[in-house]
Amino acid sequence: SGTAEVVVVANRLPVDISVDSKGKMSWDRAPGGLVTALAPVMRSRHGAWVGWSGKPDLDVEPFDGDGMHLVPVTLSGEDVKDYYEGFSNGTLWPLYHDVIVDPEFHRAWWNSYDKVNRRFAKAAAEAAAEGATVWIHDYQLQLVPALLRKLRPDVTIGWFNHIPFPPVEIFSQLPWRERVLQGLLGADVIGFQRSWDSENFLRSVKRLTGDKVRGTTVHVQARPKVPTRQVKVGVYPISIDTAAFDELSRTEKVAKRSRQIRAELGNPDVLLLGVDRLDYTKGIRHRLKIMGELLRDHRVKAPEVCLVQVASPSRERVEQYKTLRDEVEVTVGRINGDYAALGRSPVHYLHQTFPVEEMAALYRAADVMLVTSLRDGMNLVAKEFIAAQVDLDGVLVLSEFTGAADDLPQALVMNPHDIEGAKRIVMQAIDMPNDEKRRRMRALRRKVAKEDVAAWADRFFADLAKVKESNND
Ligand code: G6P
Repeated sequence: SGTAEVVVVANRLPVDISVDSKGKMSWDRAPGGLVTALAPVMRSRHGAWVGWSGKPDLDVEPFDGDGMHLVPVTLSGEDVKDYYEGFSNGTLWPLYHDVIVDPEFHRAWWNSYDKVNRRFAKAAAEAAAEGATVWIHDYQLQLVPALLRKLRPDVTIGWFNHIPFPPVEIFSQLPWRERVLQGLLGADVIGFQRSWDSENFLRSVKRLTGDKVRGTTVHVQARPKVPTRQVKVGVYPISIDTAAFDELSRTEKVAKRSRQIRAELGNPDVLLLGVDRLDYTKGIRHRLKIMGELLRDHRVKAPEVCLVQVASPSRERVEQYKTLRDEVEVTVGRINGDYAALGRSPVHYLHQTFPVEEMAALYRAADVMLVTSLRDGMNLVAKEFIAAQVDLDGVLVLSEFTGAADDLPQALVMNPHDIEGAKRIVMQAIDMPNDEKRRRMRALRRKVAKEDVAAWADRFFADLAKVKESNND
């Protein structure tokens, strides 16, 4: 098959592939913020997307699907265990999210990470046309930039981190920290969600490599046979396809479903909503604590006020995710046990994944959206909720520990660790006068309409194009 001018490389393809017993292939949209954001960008650019199919040992030839050229990378069961569940999600994910749970360091996991990153680099090298632009994504593929540069010195390379980058004091725990930095510095442009992240990264480079940092540029020192290179480090807060989400939310089908959802819940006075992957970074336990205490203190009353918590299944074989699931389910059970009436529960917990239409209907049905992450690269759920508020009557409560808090100051910004303060803010959201709701939501909607995912991608590609030009000079 042919090669592409624009290649995205990410751990996951935008689709999860299944093959039935007759060998017939089908796919579903893959989970998470990365896919939500990037899929519309790549569809409009007709690029190639290199990534894992989502199933162990599934070997599929490249194919056209979801408006792109999809290039599957095969992971064995062992790779899934050591590279994906192990190093990516048992080491890097907690290390990069404030060590909310303990990261584990295992040499076998690292070796697998190194091996799989080489496989992705090779697949990217084969998919890229002469002089192409290759955009690598996220913490699972931090070695790919340098590996790809070795294989294909002709291509321009970007890397974007969808999650936070930790302070050097924490990053330094990683036994392979220099290797990771050298891997990343193979890129021409390195992007982060917020300035905290780029500052943390630049401090790590200063402290742990011999390379010079001037402003936001890293001057990678000449090594034998390699000339000095400049790497641009920037801040590119990611977004969503706002217009598409707004349009979907306006459809009669979604409007009708949103009324139906409220009716099915017994037409509560106030519908609170949480939507997350079931992940310990999302502060779901803190949210439940806030809800439980508000009920206990008689500041809200069930079933007039209820919480719908969608917690979509994620990384289910990783130990800390199993523990979290148990804790969340015990807590939901306790709150409902204490405050439910027959047929009317204050907390509706859904450990399920729903199609995008149902999510839009839930966002429209909600009065208050609760985003209480303890640490979150961006949090696109917050932006989706805003895009769905076509009636301007929803209130967003947003943790200051999300990238979104930088972009969305008109939300009610809160600290999820401060339970008293958080309870006050949730009450402020519940009691907010209509004109204030509309004023805040209008400002939020203007922001998300202007700063959509196309604008984000355009900025990143423009910076890559500048590098390409200066290299051709
Ligand atoms: C976050 C990460 C993505 C990841 C997604 C879903 O958004 O930044 O890289 O794909 O979570 O997680 P999963 O492990 O299921 O791919």
